[in-house]
Amino acid sequence: MVWTPPETVDAVADGLAAHRYIADEGLATAVFLSLTLQRPLFLEGEAGVGKTEIAKVLSAWLGSPMIRLQCYDGIDSSQAVYEWDYARQLLHLRAIEASGATVNEDELYDERFLIRRPLLAAIGHQGVVPPILLIDEIDRADDEFEAFLLEVLADNSITIPEFATVHATIPPVVILTSNRTRDVHDALKRRCLYHWIDHPTFERELAIVRLRAPQVDAALASDVAGAAGALRDLALYKPPGVAETIDWARAVSALGKTRLDAQTIAATLGTVVKYREDQAKVHEHGLETLMRAAFERAS
Ligand SMILES: Nc1ncnc2c1ncn2[C@@H]1O[C@H](COP(=O)(O)OP(=O)(O)O)[C@@H](O)[C@H]1O
Ligand SMILES: [Mg+2]
Repeated sequence: MVWTPPETVDAVADGLAAHRYIADEGLATAVFLSLTLQRPLFLEGEAGVGKTEIAKVLSAWLGSPMIRLQCYDGIDSSQAVYEWDYARQLLHLRAIEASGATVNEDELYDERFLIRRPLLAAIGHQGVVPPILLIDEIDRADDEFEAFLLEVLADNSITIPEFATVHATIPPVVILTSNRTRDVHDALKRRCLYHWIDHPTFERELAIVRLRAPQVDAALASDVAGAAGALRDLALYKPPGVAETIDWARAVSALGKTRLDAQTIAATLGTVVKYREDQAKVHEHGLETLMRAAFERAS
């Protein structure tokens, strides 16, 4: 059996929606092209716009594992590709020595001492459907790691000097994300399809809240989606992401409310605005003013 990618952009949008992810046409198209052309997809956007989630949902939809490489400051190839289990090698060595046998060095570089990190796991994956390789928050890693990653992506193979070269039998679907705390190099971008994910429109955010928090009253979901959009207009240090909007709707609903009002915003602001300075800014702007802006968006 050979895996074939979805046939249309609509099929992608529908497949994601079936797993509770609402993509606009631009994003669905980017995912479709990435699957069809077998090119890594580079997703950039502010925190909470659904970059990580799309990899999870793709994996659920395609029925293939998601392998996640979370980047961080100082990450290197031993965390990303493979590592030899030094402690176990040493134990093995001691056991041989204790038995009086001679040590054959090759034995130490055996499969069972190899710790497979995400890149090796993804490239070495055996199966019919390609795994989803999520390289999350690449902007947190350094230049050197980025260059290294570029090589791995170009070759779709990994050489372990003491062991073997692993070639991908089925290249992984690669999704890279960045919160854009720094710009990623052109060389890496050139290898990828690029898509900027914006904060959702009011309509899309409302649809997401309805899908993810179905227990929340429809009118309340609309109020909250409108207010979240209005908050993003305030140039906050951390504008709310979609997850915060969902949390906010759930929180207000849990208080037994079916509509949003200034008093309720004041009581629940901590579920959606999580910096003191930002909260002060919201109060300065005025909660009644915010409510008016929210209603305007929702109408
Ligand atoms: N388009 C979407 N459809 C459904 N849920 C979404 C969407 N975008 C974001 N979400 C929700 O917001 C949460 C945060 O998204 P996430 O992917 O973690 O953001 P990012 O990785 O961009 O910071 C997700 O767990 C999901 O519940
Ligand atoms: Mg993320």
